[in-house]
Amino acid sequence: MAILVTGGAGYIGCHTCLELLDAGYDVIVIDNFSNSHPESLRRVMEITGKKLTVYSLDLLDKKSLETVFQQNQIEAVIHFAGLKAVGESVLFPLSYYQTNILSTVNLCEMMKRYDVKHFVFSSSATVYGIPEQVPICEKASLRANNPYGRTKRMIEEILRDLFQSDPNWSIALLRYFNPIGAHESGKIGENPKEIPNNLMPYITQVAIGKLQVLSIYGNDYPTRDGTGIRDYIHVVDLAKGHVKALEKMMTTTGVETYNLGTGKGYSVLELVAAFEKVSGLKIPYKIVERRPGDIAASFADVSKAKRELGWVASKGIEEMCRDAWKWQTQNPYGYESRKEQ
Ligand code: WQD
Repeated sequence: MAILVTGGAGYIGCHTCLELLDAGYDVIVIDNFSNSHPESLRRVMEITGKKLTVYSLDLLDKKSLETVFQQNQIEAVIHFAGLKAVGESVLFPLSYYQTNILSTVNLCEMMKRYDVKHFVFSSSATVYGIPEQVPICEKASLRANNPYGRTKRMIEEILRDLFQSDPNWSIALLRYFNPIGAHESGKIGENPKEIPNNLMPYITQVAIGKLQVLSIYGNDYPTRDGTGIRDYIHVVDLAKGHVKALEKMMTTTGVETYNLGTGKGYSVLELVAAFEKVSGLKIPYKIVERRPGDIAASFADVSKAKRELGWVASKGIEEMCRDAWKWQTQNPYGYESRKEQ
C-alpha cells in the first residue's frame, strides 16, 4: 500500500516525501511541474536511498489521474498541489479557483471511486485573514481576505460536506503558518521561480548577492518593533507534522483542523537579525510602504496538534536561518544548474 502525494515536487511536498520515505512508506508523487522541479525528487531519492514513483500530470486531467489509481494500491493521499501566491491570486482569481478547487474535487472523486478515504489537505493560516486575537486557535473565525485564502477555506468546506455525505472519510486540514528553512543536507529547499514574494527567500537572495536590498513592508504596525510578526516554522518540522497527521487519519474517521506552527512570533527585523547572526552577513534593508493585504501579527495556538497528533515543532529560528542559508549557498540558482540560467 502506498501514499499518494500530489504536488510532491514542491517545497513542502518534497520535504514531506522525504519524511514519508524515512518512515518506511511507499510514496507515489503526482506533479505537473508548473511551479516545481523534478530535480527536487531526484535529490529526495539520493538523500534517502529510496525510490519514488513519479507521475508528471495535472489533476485537472481526470483520465491520466485515473491511471494512477488503477496502477497503484493507494492507502491515503496528502494533497499539496495548487497555486499559492496571494498577490497572484488577486490578479488571476479564476485560475486559482479552477486550479485549487476543481483539481481537489477531481482528486476526491477519484479517491471515492477507488475507495481511498484517508486524506491530508494542505490548508493555510491565510484562511484566518486578520485574526481577532493571537495566538490563533483552530476555532477562530475564518476571514480569508484574498482569493488564495478563500480557495483554501472553500476546499475545507467541500471536504466537510464530503464527510457529511460519507462518514467513512478521515480528513486532516493542516493550516500552515510560515514555512521556512530547508533539509539539513542543503540539497532540497525553497526554489521560487521569480523574485521571491516571501521574506526568507528574499533575505537569502540578498545575502548571496542576487538581490541588492530587502524592502521591509512597513514599520508602523502595532507590534514591538513596528514590523510584521509571523509564526515561522521549519519546513522539516512541518513535514513531520504531515506524517503524524497521516498516521492519525489512518486510525480514525472525521474531519479535523490543525494549526502547524511553533506558537512563537518573530518580527521582520527579528528574523533579519537572526539571519545576520547565523550567516555573519549584514542584510541591507530599507523601510517602504506596507504591502496591501498584510496583517500586523499572526502566530498559532499549537496545543491541539500537540494533544491530538503528538506533534510539536522542535527547530528554532536560528536553525531555520542556518538551513535556509545552507540551501541557498549550495544552490545559488536553485535546482537549475548554472548553464540553464
Ligand atoms: C512575512 C512578513 C511581510 C517580504 C505568505 C502567504 C501565506 C503563506 C506564507 C501559503 C510580512 C514581510 C515579506 C518582503 C517584507 N503561503 N515582508 N519584505 O505574507 O505572512 O504569508 O506566505 O500558504 O499564505 O500569505 O509571508 O514571507 O510574504 O511575509 O517585509 O520582501 O515579512 O510584510 O510581515 P506572509 P511573507
